[in-house]
Amino acid sequence: MLILQNESFYYKSNELYCEEIPVGVLAKQFGTPLFVYSRSFFERQFNNFNKAFEGIKRKIFFAAKSNFNINVIKLFHNLGAGIDVNSAGELYRALKAGVNPSDIIFSGVGKTEEEIVLALKKKIKLLKAESAEEIFLINEISKSLGTVADIALRVNPDVDAKTHPYISTGLKTNKFGIDSKDAKRLFLEAAKLENLRVVGIDMHIGSQITSVEAYKNAVEKLAELYRELKDKGIPIKHFDVGGGMGVKYKDEEPLNIEKLAQILIPIFKKFDVEIFFEPGRYLTANGGILVTKILYAKKNGEKNFIVVDAAMTELLRPSLYKAYHNIQPLKLNNNKEITADVVGGVCESGDYFAKDRKLTKTTPGEYLAILGAGAYGMTMSSNYNGRRRPPEILVQGNQPIVIRGRETFEHLLYDEEIKI
Ligand code: LLP
Repeated sequence: MLILQNESFYYKSNELYCEEIPVGVLAKQFGTPLFVYSRSFFERQFNNFNKAFEGIKRKIFFAAKSNFNINVIKLFHNLGAGIDVNSAGELYRALKAGVNPSDIIFSGVGKTEEEIVLALKKKIKLLKAESAEEIFLINEISKSLGTVADIALRVNPDVDAKTHPYISTGLKTNKFGIDSKDAKRLFLEAAKLENLRVVGIDMHIGSQITSVEAYKNAVEKLAELYRELKDKGIPIKHFDVGGGMGVKYKDEEPLNIEKLAQILIPIFKKFDVEIFFEPGRYLTANGGILVTKILYAKKNGEKNFIVVDAAMTELLRPSLYKAYHNIQPLKLNNNKEITADVVGGVCESGDYFAKDRKLTKTTPGEYLAILGAGAYGMTMSSNYNGRRRPPEILVQGNQPIVIRGRETFEHLLYDEEIKI
């Protein structure tokens, strides 16, 4: 048995399995492109994370932006997670999944008035404010609704998480959070407002972070702020470390969660607060694959192209970040290796999954698995080129559960009619 990326995806008799099901069977039954998720992987990751921070008062809020299928949200909620949402739409999904509003926190640099009203009416646990303007707006809306809102302030600690510039968020040149120089003043001002309770300090320094040091530096910076606020009598109840814990896509050393815990726990122990975490990718990325069929194998000049039936519309990460995703055949073979670009059928040169990748030779009609597609795959998908979003299958042992069906042509038109 050859384990591919983790225990949930492995080869048996040269065939790729997800848990106890050959993925090829799913591809034939449900068609391609197709997202396949492993339930046991999601559970293991959550339990590992939670266990690593045993010994401190903590709560994990699953970042729904990484995979917002309501079944996936429910699965993590059932394991004890709260949910971190970034929009009214994600809030809607979390509520539909049956999550208690008191287990939902709301992030985002650009919340609209409508979103703030909705969050307060639903009585979610808290909103995170990212600017002075937002603090005052939440206070005003809260007043008009005759309530007192719990908020946390997201502080930008100005540390370099050394990740892709598009997913780095903790530098002062990024749009996120409140400048650390203004943080104390704003906490004190916010604490004076009648319709707010300032209960938390919050940070999120980026995504796909593999450096434990980056977290340590940021937490230490904000620990100082915590002490200053405590001295001023501000009753901070929680400290939110954010998400961003990096995983293995290729040969990078993933963030070691035990090591992170070892370094952070002694700092946390000096705080008298509950610690929040908001992992997304760590919990979901390597629990999902995108299964695709090879349509054509062609050559332009000296270059080989493998044209598949998935595209940037299903997994945007390579096009957007030049992200690496491992690609493996569903059936292992002993064919000779070729170097090829694996591309989709969308009318963009940027529509690719791999460039100059060494793969064993496969032929049209065969299937490939694109790994690491459980996070920021479906949630970043689109209908560009009139493509219908693929189904999502959650595998539970030997049972495939269709947690979302393939979109139909009717989905494409939704509320669009000829009016002229
Ligand atoms: N909390 C906040 C406030 C966030 O903005 C994010 C991600 C998370 C938590 C979860 O981060 P994670 O643990 O998943 O790294 N589309 C990009 C990733 C963007 C992440 C944005 N914020 C990608 O595909 O790499």
